[in-house]
Amino acid sequence: MKIIIIGATGTIGKHVVKALETGNEIIKVGLKSGDHQVDISDTRSIRNLFEKVGRFDALISTTGDAHFGPLKDMADSEFRIGLNSKLMGQINLVLIGQHYINPKGSFTLTSGSLSEDPVTFGAAVSAINGALDSFVKAAAIELENNVRINAIGPDVVEESPQYFPYFSGHIPVTMRRVAQAYVKSVLGAQTGQAYKVL
Ligand SMILES: NC(=O)c1ccc[n+]([C@@H]2O[C@H](COP(=O)([O-])OP(=O)(O)OC[C@H]3O[C@@H](n4cnc5c(N)ncnc54)[C@H](OP(=O)(O)O)[C@@H]3O)[C@@H](O)[C@H]2O)c1
Repeated sequence: MKIIIIGATGTIGKHVVKALETGNEIIKVGLKSGDHQVDISDTRSIRNLFEKVGRFDALISTTGDAHFGPLKDMADSEFRIGLNSKLMGQINLVLIGQHYINPKGSFTLTSGSLSEDPVTFGAAVSAINGALDSFVKAAAIELENNVRINAIGPDVVEESPQYFPYFSGHIPVTMRRVAQAYVKSVLGAQTGQAYKVL
């Protein structure tokens, strides 16, 4: 299977690469690193990537920025960082990528647990995660040629200790469990699902 992984060099992405690299052709993509570069907040950059990489069987996105900070100071411009990057960046990977994906292919996006289990400072991230989960549910009923789509929503992961102070009482999830949720999305048969990894 030819699998494009956007965010392949990141904390989560590198484990997803490891979990899928045996027996598959993995195209690693980052902002500055990887086999190819893309800026998901720029639709021209996304189109260029697909033109270079060509048709594929699965696309996994383990990327997307969003603002994390107190609601009382949150500015429109801060909220929109996540709308442009984590939300529309990943949605545009699907809107554009649907014209390059092979029949029976799959898209797997990354949301997070905060849509259902919010923490202080997470209002923008929670809203964006919820929007991504709703997007995959709706897109699944319209994608053509049996193309599937799911979202993975991890709780804070064990290799991101910088976030632990904001996640009191959460037990960080292991990289193995997170990576296997992506494997389940790509190699399984389900569509329109938001897999929470808690
Ligand atoms: N870490 C967690 O605990 C956690 C928990 C739940 C959900 N998530 C979500 O999981 C996703 C990945 O998180 P992470 O912690 O693995 O991130 P990370 O370690 O910061 O890695 C980000 C990856 O995305 C690439 N990237 C950055 N900006 C990009 C852009 N504009 N266009 C394309 N690629 C870009 C980076 O490439 P370069 O290396 O080239 O810069 C890198 O490969 C995010 O959506 C995050 O909200 C994370």
